[in-house]
Amino acid sequence: MITSFDTLVPPFDTYQDLQHYYDLAVKIKAQKILELGVGTYGVSTYAWIHACHETGGKVTSVDIEEKKHLFNDPCWEFIKSDDMALNPLELSPPYDIVFIDTSHTYDHTLAELKRFSPMVRPGGYLIMHDTCYPPVYEAITEFLCRNSIGEFNEIMVTQKSPRTTIYRRNE
Ligand SMILES: C[S@@+](CC[C@H](N)C(=O)[O-])C[C@H]1O[C@@H](n2cnc3c(N)ncnc32)[C@H](O)[C@@H]1O
Repeated sequence: MITSFDTLVPPFDTYQDLQHYYDLAVKIKAQKILELGVGTYGVSTYAWIHACHETGGKVTSVDIEEKKHLFNDPCWEFIKSDDMALNPLELSPPYDIVFIDTSHTYDHTLAELKRFSPMVRPGGYLIMHDTCYPPVYEAITEFLCRNSIGEFNEIMVTQKSPRTTIYRRNE
């Protein structure tokens, strides 16, 4: 059991939320996790992979840039693609968790929410990183609070900037 990710990964902005990612995935015994946005070092990916070691699940990560070299782990699958251009055949919804941490632009985040939030299973979780950035927050407000009213409930916002917000899909 990993108890302190901050001793294991450099202090990038995501690291402070890693324990929440890990704990949630383990708690719900996540079998399928979809991650959009791996980044330079795969900080969030690291937490998802470690959770899947506990749950026996699998993480599928998507990034527009090549990231395959970052991990060599049987729990991890990497797809190099613009997420909005992903071939649906490469995905296997529904997912227990969909995690979004990519461009942080308004239009792209809104498009991601429209495409990927329906892939969260009922009772599963949509996790948005960097929700203190106005374009991300405004896209979430537009989609979850206007287009998809009542479908997802906010269950947690991490304290430190740039913040992760966790939503649970209704059963
Ligand atoms: C902020 S970083 C992700 C950080 C990562 N989650 C972490 O914890 O280390 C954003 C990533 O999104 C990727 N990205 C940006 N636009 C994308 C798109 N349209 N489709 C897929 N990935 C994209 C970038 O290449 C970059 O690696």
